[in-house]
Amino acid sequence: MAKDDEWEELARRQSRKRRPLKRDKKRSKEEQLDSDFERNEQNEFVRDLEEKSSKYAWMKEKRYSTMFRDIEEKIQGAMGTGSFDWVDRRVFDQVFDRLTLMALYKLMKTGVIDTLDFPVARGKEAHVFHGTSLSGEPVAVKIFHTSNAVFKNLVQYIEGDPRFTGLRRKHRDLVEVWVRKEHRNLTRLARWGLNVPLPRGIHKNVLIMDYLGTEQSPSPKLRDVLIDDPQSVYDDLIEFLAVSWQKANLVHGDFSPYNILWHDGRAKVIDVGQGVVESHPKSQEFLVRDVTRLVEWGKKNNLDVDLAEAMYEVLNMDLSHVKQIELPEEWN
Ligand SMILES: Nc1ncnc2c1ncn2[C@@H]1O[C@H](COP(=O)(O)OP(=O)(O)O)[C@@H](O)[C@H]1O
Ligand SMILES: [Mg+2]
Repeated sequence: MAKDDEWEELARRQSRKRRPLKRDKKRSKEEQLDSDFERNEQNEFVRDLEEKSSKYAWMKEKRYSTMFRDIEEKIQGAMGTGSFDWVDRRVFDQVFDRLTLMALYKLMKTGVIDTLDFPVARGKEAHVFHGTSLSGEPVAVKIFHTSNAVFKNLVQYIEGDPRFTGLRRKHRDLVEVWVRKEHRNLTRLARWGLNVPLPRGIHKNVLIMDYLGTEQSPSPKLRDVLIDDPQSVYDDLIEFLAVSWQKANLVHGDFSPYNILWHDGRAKVIDVGQGVVESHPKSQEFLVRDVTRLVEWGKKNNLDVDLAEAMYEVLNMDLSHVKQIELPEEWN
């Protein structure tokens, strides 16, 4: 809660900073016209939303419109202005509430991301956007929905994880715990050298990680690609599960060909939010389910595999050669 207040305060200060318009006066007429035009466009955007629902009344407040203006050019992926004219206003409705915009604002102000560009996927729990880091690298910005419905079934993955005990929380807090969980799981897997997108930052319901894909689209899901050498992919993924279990002490929990992307000729595992540690009461059940999914994929690709053997490998594979690696400090 204190953190929210901090942000309110920052937004207030920011708007105070903008008030003296001396700099504006110095601007050339042309610049002034440009900026008036942009402001009008933005006002129209805000007016449009306001007409639909009173829940956007906050947007009219001066401090928020100042915040908008401050990052306007960088959040075209949210506003649907400029060259990213994709916007379905329902997306805005679903994704960008007041606190989410403030979270993006903070991630921009602290230099974790520079721009939010365009959406690449929408899931049940989150939208994923293509963004750009300050150094110009593409990043994936996963923004979790904070509306009520979907999170109910996720509670089971949090309760029972000793890292997140004693939580009796409001819905939004729960979402934030979930995002932190995904971030910690990603970090843990990455430290063991596993093939996941590296985590780059997190704030509230927004998670930043390496982007897997091209400027046109994210890398395809394993289920949608024809694999030349399924045996080597299978072996790679069995080892992934073995290292996760034996070394990282983590079970993915939703290890399906939907959550594995085919990127640069290798399988990269995503969507690790539901991953649980070994001491979670359902960890073994989840592990068997994960291995089963992989074996099913193998069978579909004409491999001679079976569950008992695969389980044996995951539990007993010799991993003495696998060592932890250091991640860049700023990503922790
Ligand atoms: N790091 C990433 N790089 C590129 N695309 C991604 C990345 N993470 C997720 N995506 C895209 O977003 C989709 C949904 O992400 P996922 O983490 O599976 O969320 P959900 O919980 O909604 O299933 C993925 O199927 C993929 O297309
Ligand atoms: Mg998924």
